[in-house]
Amino acid sequence: MWTPLKALPPYLGGKRKLLGHIFKYLPKPSEAPVFIDAFLGGGSVSLMAKAKGYRVICNDIAQRSYIVGKALIENKSLKLEDSDLLRLFVPADDRSGFIVKNFSPDVLPKKHAEFLDNAMANLSQNGTPKRWLLLLMFIKYILRIRPMGNFGAKTIMHQIADGNWDEMNPNYVKDVINRKIYGHPKQILERIMKQVNRGVFDNGQDNMAYHDDIFKTLDKIDQGDIIYLDPPYAGTGSYEKALSPLDCMLAGAMIQTEPSVFSRDDAFEFLEKLFVASKRFPIWVISYGNVRIDLNQLTDLIKKFKKDVIAEEFKYTHLNSLAGEERKKNNKELLIYARGNR
Ligand SMILES: C[S@@+](CC[C@H](N)C(=O)[O-])C[C@H]1O[C@@H](n2cnc3c(N)ncnc32)[C@H](O)[C@@H]1O
Repeated sequence: MWTPLKALPPYLGGKRKLLGHIFKYLPKPSEAPVFIDAFLGGGSVSLMAKAKGYRVICNDIAQRSYIVGKALIENKSLKLEDSDLLRLFVPADDRSGFIVKNFSPDVLPKKHAEFLDNAMANLSQNGTPKRWLLLLMFIKYILRIRPMGNFGAKTIMHQIADGNWDEMNPNYVKDVINRKIYGHPKQILERIMKQVNRGVFDNGQDNMAYHDDIFKTLDKIDQGDIIYLDPPYAGTGSYEKALSPLDCMLAGAMIQTEPSVFSRDDAFEFLEKLFVASKRFPIWVISYGNVRIDLNQLTDLIKKFKKDVIAEEFKYTHLNSLAGEERKKNNKELLIYARGNR
């Protein structure tokens, strides 16, 4: 794997494996300088676009993704140091205990929840730009303990907390050891810090991260050559539900976020609205899942707006397909390049 990608959170719906295909037909930054990543997610496409030298404008409605945008896409040179890690362990007076109270032991073992409460309290006083890097480190930390945002299985957390190793599924035991969940938080952080720092680089451009609903952000952007659209897919589980504990921990409150309009059953209405709002950008790349639409149908929809279309499909696994096991096996990732306005 290209090492800067290790700086990103492992992310449901992430496009790391498709990066080669996504950039395959795109003009170079000298011909098409501004790359818009409308749905940043875990950040892999923006980070690659940044490395290729485009001026990247990225956006996501979720705080968890905006953090990636601020820490790695906008940030040109700031890196974390050992002293930044050590400061997180200084006992904070105003610890809310929010994570321990609400997420331990069901979601996180107490030791990790206590560390995060203390670290978040220290961080709230840290107004420096390093805050974004530290928050990214927390996301990676939480997802390391609960891989890929699987916040469901409570039994294993209780088994870890109680030390009931012999009752635990042997695959989980191996996994716990591999990911050093059992280690001291500092051990875990040191590794994550190195990964995060590897994702920081300057590409000579002023890159920008937005944190809003895509329709509002597109109203604010006046220039763009390429737009990459990777919305949640109709008929798949919502990110807001799957990642709710992570979102609450970052917010420090039990927030309830409505599922994205793009995950809903009437998502195609919004997809079409998205195409209307994107028409002024000359080149489109669109990723979509085949749970509710096939390659031909999606191509026909896009041809209402753009003349020259290349359509491809790949085998891929989507987030919690609602369509059952059989359908999951047939999951495909649809990828479309389009240019030339109608
Ligand atoms: C499929 S993921 C993007 C994955 C990303 N391309 C990657 O490689 O990691 C979809 C993202 O869209 C975001 N999203 C959902 N609804 C949105 C909206 N109305 N405006 C902006 N972002 C939205 C979600 O928060 C999620 O991060």
